[in-house]
Amino acid sequence: MIELQGVSKIYRQGRSNEIAAVCDLDLTLQDNRVTVLKGPSGSGKTTVLTIIGCLARPTQGRVLLDGEILSGLPEKFLAEVRRRTFGFAFQRFNLIAGLTAFENIVLPAYPLAPRFDTLKARALELAETFGVAHRLDLNVDDLSGGEMQRVAVARALINDPRVVIADEPTANLDSERAAQFLDIVATLKARGKTVLMTSHDPRIWSANVVDRVVEMADGRIVEAA
Ligand SMILES: Nc1ncnc2c1ncn2[C@@H]1O[C@H](COP(=O)(O)OP(=O)(O)OP(=O)(O)O)[C@@H](O)[C@H]1O
Ligand SMILES: [Mg+2]
Repeated sequence: MIELQGVSKIYRQGRSNEIAAVCDLDLTLQDNRVTVLKGPSGSGKTTVLTIIGCLARPTQGRVLLDGEILSGLPEKFLAEVRRRTFGFAFQRFNLIAGLTAFENIVLPAYPLAPRFDTLKARALELAETFGVAHRLDLNVDDLSGGEMQRVAVARALINDPRVVIADEPTANLDSERAAQFLDIVATLKARGKTVLMTSHDPRIWSANVVDRVVEMADGRIVEAA
C-alpha cells in the first residue's frame, strides 16, 4: 500500500515565480489496483507520479510504502526502493537517444546486475509482448512514437516491479494500440501488480480494468471515485 499524507510540492520555493504544483494531498493506493489520475494540464498529475515513484521529494508531507516512511530516507536507500519497487514509463524523461531499443529496455536492470542471458530473454519476451521485437536493434531515434512508447513500457517492466507508473501512456497510440495497452494493464493486474497512470484519454478512464479514477485540479484532488 502506498500512502500520501499531506503532501505538497512547491517548485522554485521562496522565489517570486514559485509554483504550488501539489497542495496538501492525501491519497491511498491499495495494492493490485489500477488507478488513473485525470485533470487539466498543469493540475499536478505528473508531479504526483514523481513523488510516489520517489523520483522527487515532497516539499511537505509524507510518503509511505507499506507503512514505512520513504520521504525522509537518504538518497541511497531511496534509489534502492525505487529500483526494486517501481517501473516507469514517462513521457518526458523517456528513452535514451543514441541507444538501441534493446539497450533502453535492459538499462534499468544493470544496477541489479542479473545474468545477461536471463536479462536478454526477459527483454525479448517483453519486446514480443509489446510488438517491438523486430525493432530491438534499431536506434530508438528511428522508432515511431507508438513504438517508442511500447519500448518505454517494456523498459518499465524489465525489473518485474510491484508498481508500474505510466505518464500519459496512450498519448501517441491509435485506438487499436490503446486497446492493446489496456490488455497489458489487465495482464499486469492479473499478475498482482499495482498500476498508477495519468491520462487525458476517455478510453482509459472508462476502461473495465481501471478500478479508480482520481480527478485533480490545481494540485488538489477534486473527486476520488
Ligand atoms: N520541474 C519543474 N519546475 C518548475 N515547475 C514545474 C516543474 N514541473 C512541473 N512544474 C509546474 O507544476 C505544475 C504542475 O505540473 P505537472 O507536470 O505536475 O502537471 P500535469 O497535471 O502533469 O500536466 P499535463 O497534463 O500538462 O502533463 C505546472 O504548473 C508546471 O508548470
Ligand atoms: Mg503531466
